[in-house]
Parts: sequence; structure tokens; C-alpha cells
Amino acid sequence: MSYDVRAVRDLYPALGDGWAYLDGAAGTQVPRSVIDAESAAYAAGIGNHGGFFAASRRSDEHTLAARSGIVDLLGVPAEDGVVLGPSMTALTYRFADGLAKTWREGDEIVLTRLDHDGNVRPWVQAAARAGVTVRWADPVLPEIELPVEAVTAQLSDRTRLVAVTAASNVVGTRPDVRAISDAAHAAGALVYVDGVHATPHVPVDVTELGADLYATSAYKWSGPHLATVVGRPELLDTIHPDKLASSAEEVPHRFERGTSPFAQHAGLAAAVDHLAGLAPSAAPAGAGRRERIAASMTAVAQYEAALLRRLLTGLGELTHVQRIGSPARQAPTVWFTVPGLTPDDVAMHCAKAQVNVWSGHNYAWELAGLLGIREAGSAVRAGLSCYSTDEDVDRLLEVLAGLA
Ligand SMILES: Cc1ncc(COP(=O)(O)O)c(C=O)c1O
Repeated sequence: MSYDVRAVRDLYPALGDGWAYLDGAAGTQVPRSVIDAESAAYAAGIGNHGGFFAASRRSDEHTLAARSGIVDLLGVPAEDGVVLGPSMTALTYRFADGLAKTWREGDEIVLTRLDHDGNVRPWVQAAARAGVTVRWADPVLPEIELPVEAVTAQLSDRTRLVAVTAASNVVGTRPDVRAISDAAHAAGALVYVDGVHATPHVPVDVTELGADLYATSAYKWSGPHLATVVGRPELLDTIHPDKLASSAEEVPHRFERGTSPFAQHAGLAAAVDHLAGLAPSAAPAGAGRRERIAASMTAVAQYEAALLRRLLTGLGELTHVQRIGSPARQAPTVWFTVPGLTPDDVAMHCAKAQVNVWSGHNYAWELAGLLGIREAGSAVRAGLSCYSTDEDVDRLLEVLAGLA
């Protein structure tokens, strides 16, 4: 496997501080190239978009570069199918509002209790306003799998939408999104896939997944605090979110409210280039960016899988640590508790040893409720990322061993 984690780490200035950054599921650090791209954008001068002067043109170029980066990262058919926005949550509310205008009383939508609340609450609230019934697909416990049947059992000829995650942000479960999409399409429903947790860990092809709409946030994959929702331009054209009378009607602009963060668009484009270069020897010479991304994300996935095995083996040896879930196919993220200590206590012990982990529900609100752990502080989350190392994992295991 051609993956040089030392070389990768050298690209991230923040990693020099000696802490073990196992908090990537809540946002990664950014490489020097992203920092430089943003500061270069500001240094060169930017203006509001659509003007006749050079600074304005530069801003439009940054936005175009961001869209074309997303096209290559996700395998989107066209730049016009790339909606940029501040966060997955903000964009999902926008799509929920727009799609709900096409729903009729008595229609149904299917949500899962595996999903981050960002792919749940916007739909629940839009459904309530439209008189639409929410049907729930529950994961199977204790493994926390989401079998295709859990979703198909909730489909009917009134289903308008299935919202499902490509990977749980707490237990890592990766459902069979393709099979779920096929079943949803056969029922006449649209599929909205939350790819926020999956995108940093696996190569993504939205067409192969069968996603009509796919969301991801750049700050989870070494980019700035920005997000995107992608879809076929013809589909986007059928959705009408609220917008100013004076702002553009064309897609994707109609979804992008107000003035965009142009320098961050430059950063997002640089983050995609960064992903394409994570495993330089993995792609054939002369390969295009999409091919290089596929090769490097495959290398990242293999590297992280080996690291996850190390983490799971180590956790398995700590009999006082209770892991939550054991999905067969998962992103490299684990959720656990240490009986006798609150999740916050555990996270504080980790912080004393300079290990970053998160405690709490981590917005897996429905899952924490289903497991009955929400009120007790939920659990501790450790997530591996493209720059995690054996030493990071061992440091976490050592802290946890000391809590016996
Ligand atoms: C799986 C998943 N979905 C949605 C979100 C929400 O993303 P954002 O912070 O961009 O709104 C997150 C953020 O943690 C996430 O992990």
C-alpha cells in the first residue's frame, strides 16, 4: 500500500503541536496549501461576484474552481449541479424547505435513527409544516447496522423522500446506500444522502450510490468551513427554495443565499487538490484529478482500515471499556463508554494526555435516544483521519487503560 502518513502529516502545520487529533469526525485540520490558497485570494484582491473588474472576476474564478473541485471529488455530472453553502445543516434546511413545497398532505418521508440530526430535524420540521408523515427506519441493535430492509419496510407509494447517511458519524456504520436508493427509486421517492462522514474516508461516486442529492462538508476533509449539496441540474431546477426577488433564478445560484465566501472557495478547491495528492504514487502518471482522487482515497481507506483494526483490537483488550455497535462495514470512528465515568470525564482525562476526543451525543440525537444513553451524557467518540497514526491510537489506548 502506498500511503506515507509522515509525508501527509508534514503538510498540516497544526499537527506539529504534539496533540493526538482523534477529533477529525468533528472537523479536520487544514494543510498549508489550503491556508495559502485562502490568504493568496485575499492578498490578490477579491470583489463581489459578477462585476466588470478584475477583482470581481477573480472571485468568480474561485467559485468556479470550488465547483469543479466538487465535480471531481464526488463524480458529479456538471458544475451546475454543485450548490455551495455554509454548512450541511444550513443547506439541508434549504433543500427541506424547497422540497416540502412539492409535498402534499398524506405524503410520507423515510428517515433513519442512525443519522446525524442534520439529516433528520430539517426533514421532520418541514414534514410537520406540510402535513407529511415521517416513517422511521431504525438500526438493528446491538450491532447498529441499518439493513436495506429497515428502510424498504417503511416505503409506500406515498413516499416522497428517503434521507439516509452514507456513514454514521458516531459508530461509523456504512449502510448499503445503492440498494436503499434503488428501492426508494422503485417506490418513486427521491434519495438525499448525508455524505458528511463518508466523504473523508472513501472514494465517492454519487451516480454509483444512486443519490439524487448528496451533501458533504469540506471542513471534514481538510478544507474550510463550507459545505455542498450536489444533484442533477434538471432535478435542482424543480426545487424552489425561498430567495430574494433580486437574486438569480438559475441553478445552482438560486440555492446560494447572499454573498459567498470567495476566499474560502479558493481554499475548498485547494483542499480537493490536496486530497488528490494524498497518495501520489497510487495513480498512474498523467492521471486526471478525478482518477487521482479515487486512487488516493482508496489508499486512505486502506490505511485507515488498518489503523481501525489496531484501535478495535486495543479496545477489545480493555474489558472496562464498552464499545457501542459493531457494524460489519464502517468508517474509522468508534463510540464507547467507560462505566463509572461520564463521557465528559473520559474526554477530560484524554485532554490531559493531549488526546482530542469528543463526548456527548455528537448530534446522533435519535441514536443516542434509541440506545437510552442521551440523558446520561451519551458516549465518547474517537475518529481516525488521513493523518492519524499508530502512536495516536496507542496514546488513546494508554489513557483508557489508566481508567480501569
Ligand atoms: C454525518 C454528519 N452529518 C451532518 C453533519 C452536519 O454538518 P455541518 O456541520 O456542515 O452542518 C455532520 C457534522 O458533524 C456530520 O458528521
